[in-house]
Amino acid sequence: MSANGALLHVHDLRVTIGESQILGGVSFQVREGGITGLLGRNGVGKTTTLRGILGLVPRTGKVTLAGEELTALPVHSIVQRGVGYVPEDRDVFGGLTVEENLRLAERADSEHRYALIYELFPELRERAAQRAGTLSGGQQQMVALARALLNASNRILLIDEPTKGLSPLMVKRVADALQRAAQIATILLVEQNLAVARHLASDVVVLDQGSVVFAGDVAALVDDPALARRYLGLSAAGSGH
Ligand SMILES: Nc1ncnc2c1ncn2[C@@H]1O[C@H](COP(=O)(O)OP(=O)(O)OP(=O)(O)O)[C@@H](O)[C@H]1O
Ligand SMILES: [Mg+2]
Repeated sequence: MSANGALLHVHDLRVTIGESQILGGVSFQVREGGITGLLGRNGVGKTTTLRGILGLVPRTGKVTLAGEELTALPVHSIVQRGVGYVPEDRDVFGGLTVEENLRLAERADSEHRYALIYELFPELRERAAQRAGTLSGGQQQMVALARALLNASNRILLIDEPTKGLSPLMVKRVADALQRAAQIATILLVEQNLAVARHLASDVVVLDQGSVVFAGDVAALVDDPALARRYLGLSAAGSGH
């Protein structure tokens, strides 16, 4: 186990695709419990960082979970160590029902938290027999989050922009669900909505052009409008003040 209580350590993560270096040596830690935000403007490498942790892209560097090195393991073994992933595009199976989507996510080595997910998202029970492709974007996001929350053996959830494109009401629902989920799991959350990130995250990591430019307390970022503007491309009006 790590000395400072961090659950996930990312050290010098580098990803090169074709001729382009996408990540140029990303290092940060995720504290156990609660939500750590991974922020940064479009195209800075947030999604690639999550994919690099999971081994979905070729990478160098070192990633450890609770002291165990993940980097040499195949993706399925990393997932079995308890790494849940909610990708940017949600990835629900549109032709399958809500219930089938959830059943497909069940891992044999884990308890399944159906009570929790139906408490968070009652409409998933009501719409169990509905094809996921006919749900609204917000409802599909609920399915995607529920799939990651379902397996109680997950130790960390990597969640990529869950509020993107959702109505304000749905953003609130998703944020509430994440807050509840963070009581039982550690979450690394990519979030462009700084107001949401500020509300949910204790610590934040900010990327710019494939490198970490800020890591620390969310308040230190939000309270420094020049920093927020520089690395998040936000006006003060957009920063949730
Ligand atoms: N498979 C790929 N092939 C080539 N370039 C890629 C590939 N994946 C990502 N990139 C490039 O790498 C950079 C980082 O992409 P990434 O998707 O990680 O950024 P991001 O921070 O998640 O952006 P966004 O906010 O738009 O989701 C971008 O310039 C992107 O075009
Ligand atoms: Mg992305």
